[in-house]
Amino acid sequence: MFELTVSVVKQDETFLFMLKSKPGRASLREHMLLFREFIRCPFHTAALAPSSRHLAKRMVASVPLASAQNVVELGPGTGALTNALLPQLKDDARFLAVELNPTFAKAWSKQFPGRDVEVGSVANLRQICSRHNIQSIDCIVSGLPWPSFPVALQQTALEEVLSLLKPGGQMVTFGYHVGMCMPSGRHFQRLVNNRFRRVERLAWEWRNLPPAYILRCTR
Ligand SMILES: C[S@@+](CC[C@H](N)C(=O)[O-])C[C@H]1O[C@@H](n2cnc3c(N)ncnc32)[C@H](O)[C@@H]1O
Repeated sequence: MFELTVSVVKQDETFLFMLKSKPGRASLREHMLLFREFIRCPFHTAALAPSSRHLAKRMVASVPLASAQNVVELGPGTGALTNALLPQLKDDARFLAVELNPTFAKAWSKQFPGRDVEVGSVANLRQICSRHNIQSIDCIVSGLPWPSFPVALQQTALEEVLSLLKPGGQMVTFGYHVGMCMPSGRHFQRLVNNRFRRVERLAWEWRNLPPAYILRCTR
């Protein structure tokens, strides 16, 4: 039943894409790339389709990107969030994307020429940032599948994030209902609740496959 719904919605998206390509909407090629990588490594990719432009728009609007000096995107995948994020940055802002999957990173580089993407894991964020001369971060936009991470990786990754975020700095991330129900998803929620000064669950975005909520965490 779920697979049928997904395929109908995806075909509908494809049909709409062929009719009219709106700015910010993921292309058919991006949909196919993400779907293929999901089949190849489901736990790392953890999504059947790129985030919708509605989710991307709401995520980037929920953090003060316009005044941020150093901005990092985690798990950019096919660039659905990057598309909404880059136009918000001020001219002299530093921006770095960190992506585990080299196939995504290669496609991302072609889409955003001149922008920095590092192939690596959030588990090594400090090392990666220091290679790019980034000592502290104002805003992190995360597309990471936190509930798919083993508990040890959740902990390491959050330590890395917190060690780089400035006091008052924010990380915005999204999640799906299924992740909220998984023990590892509940573990992640407890971790952020304990480690950040403020954690806010913002409204659900229904125009996404599947619907997603936005979590804003302030150090
Ligand atoms: C749910 S997809 C999100 C893709 C894209 N941001 C979007 O919203 O459409 C998760 C992304 O996180 C990446 N990823 C998974 N584990 C990672 C890790 N440990 N470090 C960095 N990126 C990771 C995956 O390769 C994939 O690109």
